[in-house]
Amino acid sequence: MKEASPRTIYLKDYRPPAFLIERTELRFALGEDSTQVESRLRLRRNPAAATPAAPLVLDGEDLELLSVRLDGRDLAPGEWVQDAESLTLANVPDAFVLEIVNRIKPQENTRLEGLYKSSGNFCTQCEAEGFRCMTYYIDRPDVMSVFTTTVVGEQARYPVLLSNGNPVEKGVLDDGQHFVTWHDPHPKPSYLFALVAGNLSCLEDSYKTASGREVALRIYVEPHNIDKCDHAMASLKKAMRWDEQRFGLEYDLDIFMIVAVDDFNMGAMENKGLNVFNSKLLLARPDTATDLDYERIEGVIAHEYFHNWTGNRVTCRDWFQLSLKEGLTVFRDQSFTAEVTAGTVKRIDDVRMLRSRQFVEDAGPMAHPVRPPSYMEINNFYTVTVYEKGAEVVRMYETLLGREGFRRGMDLYFERHDGHAVTTDDFLAAMADANGEDLSQFQRWYEQAGTPRVTVEDAWDAASGRYTLTLRQSCPATPGQPEKRPFLIPVAVGLLDAQGRDMPLRLAAEAQAAGTTRVLRLTEAEQQWVFEGLVERPLPSLNRGFSAPVRVSYPYTETQLAFLAAHDADAFNRWDAGEQLATRVLLGLIADIQAGREPALPERFLTAFAAVLTDAGLEAAVKAEMLMLPSENWLAEQMDVIDPDAIHAARSYARRALAGELEAQWLGLYHTHEVSGEYRFDPRDAGRRRLRNLALSYLAALDGKPMRQLAASQFEQADNMTDSLGALAALMLIDGAEREQALATFYDHWRNDPLVLDKWFALQASAQRPDTLARVEQLMQNPAFSIRTPNRVYSLIGAFAGNPTGFHAADGSGYRFIGAQVETLNALNPQVAARMVGVFTRWRRYDAGRQAQMRAELERLQGLDLSRDVYEIVSKSLQ
Ligand code: ARG
Ligand code: ZN
Repeated sequence: MKEASPRTIYLKDYRPPAFLIERTELRFALGEDSTQVESRLRLRRNPAAATPAAPLVLDGEDLELLSVRLDGRDLAPGEWVQDAESLTLANVPDAFVLEIVNRIKPQENTRLEGLYKSSGNFCTQCEAEGFRCMTYYIDRPDVMSVFTTTVVGEQARYPVLLSNGNPVEKGVLDDGQHFVTWHDPHPKPSYLFALVAGNLSCLEDSYKTASGREVALRIYVEPHNIDKCDHAMASLKKAMRWDEQRFGLEYDLDIFMIVAVDDFNMGAMENKGLNVFNSKLLLARPDTATDLDYERIEGVIAHEYFHNWTGNRVTCRDWFQLSLKEGLTVFRDQSFTAEVTAGTVKRIDDVRMLRSRQFVEDAGPMAHPVRPPSYMEINNFYTVTVYEKGAEVVRMYETLLGREGFRRGMDLYFERHDGHAVTTDDFLAAMADANGEDLSQFQRWYEQAGTPRVTVEDAWDAASGRYTLTLRQSCPATPGQPEKRPFLIPVAVGLLDAQGRDMPLRLAAEAQAAGTTRVLRLTEAEQQWVFEGLVERPLPSLNRGFSAPVRVSYPYTETQLAFLAAHDADAFNRWDAGEQLATRVLLGLIADIQAGREPALPERFLTAFAAVLTDAGLEAAVKAEMLMLPSENWLAEQMDVIDPDAIHAARSYARRALAGELEAQWLGLYHTHEVSGEYRFDPRDAGRRRLRNLALSYLAALDGKPMRQLAASQFEQADNMTDSLGALAALMLIDGAEREQALATFYDHWRNDPLVLDKWFALQASAQRPDTLARVEQLMQNPAFSIRTPNRVYSLIGAFAGNPTGFHAADGSGYRFIGAQVETLNALNPQVAARMVGVFTRWRRYDAGRQAQMRAELERLQGLDLSRDVYEIVSKSLQ
């Protein structure tokens, strides 16, 4: 039987810390058996604390405590109380120095929180609560301290010794040991602490800030990866410049370091002056990384760098405020990518991801507001809601206040809160005050979960030229929140005339027309807007640019959607109209298949699709977006009872039909979009490769030898990973000897590059074939696979969990397989296990047979001795 369920932590219970830590001095003696940590903390009572005589409670987990000294006096074991999670000292003075010595075993750390080893090197991950796995501390973000850290290690094994800030001293000790002392002048919470030690090579560069300071830039990687760092370095310099130009924010230390590690639970970490990255988000060479990898690396390098201001200089008061730094920083990295590449494509990709993942989360048992009111395990709240919906919430300030108004708000935010740990209320107040606006209703975006729905109705009065839009909002119930109050929703609207041109807009009571897109502020459950002076009935273009993270419904006909897809001046809405049309068509095909009818692609859809395919004026990357069919997951979300087999059959049918009807056009596209010359990662070339590989994947649906040969020859000739993988992905769709041959060739070539092999694992695990599970089980035996390395788990087991026909196989084999992996991972690495169990949360959306099997697996897991991470998700799913 499992032990008592973990406790829930509530935002409403927040109290300021009883003590503050003014100075933190640490000494890590790294060893092969264990590591000794000595800390010297200068503490004082917090004048703002509620309880003046409170004992000192330090957080600590899995620590072997060796000694405690208070103001130079050794304490006896009876003078403290120790339990599994804390060390308590009663009767301490108001200000004192505490010295603690303890021992830890980084080599045995499979959770990858705190100090651990990766490829023979030491590294740390402290966010959110990993610091307490290294030493006793007040491990919460509102305790900010100035750190001085000495790292001691064997010189031969660990020539490089790093921590936050600037190196102030180094030297050689006895027994082949050496040390480096680092000092970080900026007070910071413990979650931003980092330490790295190992045999690492370094790519060096430098950057001159806008005010003329020279900053040394260093990227550390394992020696064999030194030729894969150039893109990351270029991205870093680009991000540094952008933040100066767009937000007036400069870097504030003399050194900025990034380290790549192979074993990492998440993407990357913004530790002050010493970012640590999952190597898959840093290493890139044209032959090993795809365009998508290049783009993500640029975006994540920027994201972590931007945290230096939004997260580090101004940090979170408590973990409920996580979106304060994450939503804002995602918004900043999205804006950066949009401005350095093709903006529309970035917006489409971001919205696609929001809809297919965040809308789903918002409609399930783990739904939570951007600022959650409670949690059992904070690591479960690094979610698409906190990150991506949080970014949409920040974007709405910009939509409401304008670009300049938003900048004024940011400036005031830094002016007020630099060096402090604050809340999302403080951010909202800065935005409101800097612009003299009352944004109190906007607060609900932080407090209410669920995706609001905006229903639009219109009326046209030809005699007066008046066009009335009625907007109604509602929001479905979510766990713990049966009723919702109206949100402040900025709905950007344009009106198209019969030629598809934007009409100038004049609202009732306005003297003259102004602009062709207006942001309507929907604040009530129902509101009306009257546009005047129109000469014909317009067609509305709603929520332009996805101005609010809501679902909009308006009774468009298919003809109207096709018209918007062809003409809307808002490029995002052009794509969105096409997406809505395709969704409708596919749902029709699904219904046909379920009813045993012969599916047929509607002529109107085919015509609209062909028009996009042959439109010479469309940029390649945008065209690729428009020609991609809605994902199986997105289609699933639109159904009352999800039928994975019918969805897959319908989508495959549509792909085959579109390929067959337009074969010549696809081939034409394929041949005219070859990219000549050496590989370069730039938006134009990347867009062409994307479109060309999309054409190839449609053509693959036609089967047959010619298409196999086309894909096989691209595979053989490719000089970059984008085209190599594009060809391999196409071959995966076709039966025949070419597929197995290409997989074998790929493996032989890349057998020593784990990050490239991850792509090979993922392709096979996501193949929608009857033998996929058997293949995955066999691949788990491959020497390149290890269940202890998160990247391997995500690429093989995670890809299978995301394979709709594999995971949801009607016989329940996928459920049992993933359940068993969760069980294994639960004991090794709870964070990774929690990510894998997430696919079970939506069990209620399936047919009775699948429901029963998923539920049985969840119940089986619930009976085990679970980590907090997995327990929270399993128990909430079953509630
Ligand atoms: N702050 C990191 C970021 O930039 C994420 C770290 C999360 N890590 C964790 N174990 N929860 O997004
Ligand atoms: Zn972040």
